[in-house]
Amino acid sequence: MKIGILSQDIRLYSTKRLFETAKKRGHDAQVVSYLRCYMSIAKGKPRIYQAGNELSFDSVIPRIAASWTFYGAAVVRQFELMGSLSANSSASINRSRDKLRALQLIGNTGVDMPVTGYVHFSRDVEAVLRTVGEPPFVIKLLEGTQGRGVVLTETMDAAISVIETMKKIDANILVQEFISEASGQDIRAIVVGDKVVASMKRTAKPGEFRSNVHLGGKAENYETTPQEEESAVRAAKVLGLHVAGVDLIQSERGPLVLEVNSSPGLEGIETASQIDVAGKIIEYLEEKIQTRDTSKPMDI
Ligand SMILES: Nc1ncnc2c1ncn2[C@@H]1O[C@H](COP(=O)(O)OP(=O)(O)O)[C@@H](O)[C@H]1O
Ligand SMILES: [Mg+2]
Repeated sequence: MKIGILSQDIRLYSTKRLFETAKKRGHDAQVVSYLRCYMSIAKGKPRIYQAGNELSFDSVIPRIAASWTFYGAAVVRQFELMGSLSANSSASINRSRDKLRALQLIGNTGVDMPVTGYVHFSRDVEAVLRTVGEPPFVIKLLEGTQGRGVVLTETMDAAISVIETMKKIDANILVQEFISEASGQDIRAIVVGDKVVASMKRTAKPGEFRSNVHLGGKAENYETTPQEEESAVRAAKVLGLHVAGVDLIQSERGPLVLEVNSSPGLEGIETASQIDVAGKIIEYLEEKIQTRDTSKPMDI
């Protein structure tokens, strides 16, 4: 099959692995800079070009950077309209990139997550914090990634003043109950299709509650419990993602979903788990292209 890997950088580990694995499995693979794709949108004739050449693929694997979600998702949507099978649909990418929308959908399926609040006016901040519970509170920038933009506030007053400060600079934030029993650990489960194919546990460096590897967290292989697997698969499914990195923390009331990533990095998980995750993704596409039902409405 002709596979387009939509990525801005061929040197990235994940891009390279997907490209090489697709080649090894006998596919005609190509890495495509999605920012260099331009689109022609006209009645019944969607087209994509790059430097004067028309592009077309049987399937595409989006690896859209968070900062280019709008343009990247438009490119994915255009490929879908042209009949390409996308590992993740454009709509599912948009749902997962909006952290608030994703949490609203995940909570609605009955998957547990930290109680979360969202508020517009400063005068309503204390009231929303009371709906979340008792301090400490976690405050998160909606656009944050890699643990940057996640802070812990120990008291009600500290939380209010941090939120007011963030609102002054027009930052979009949500507030969350702090799960202290997670003890600086979280679980990253890679969902492909309807199962977890690999998972790892990340542990924050001493004195830190955020387990992100970018902040010095350490990753090790981990086997998810059936309950964790069910939460991860349901969270990916409600967002419509076929390939997802689901972050969970363990709490006294069971696993809680924190967030769902539509372009999960492969280096950390393949190193920790020793599983060929790139191979699982390509295999999934091979199977899906045989069995897909093109009469169903697209998720765009
Ligand atoms: N409500 C919470 N309670 C306890 N720890 C949390 C909570 N939210 C986040 N964390 C920790 O902080 C890390 C980063 O938070 P996350 O929501 O995943 O933001 P980011 O998108 O920046 O990675 C998580 O991996 C987890 O270790
Ligand atoms: Mg995270």
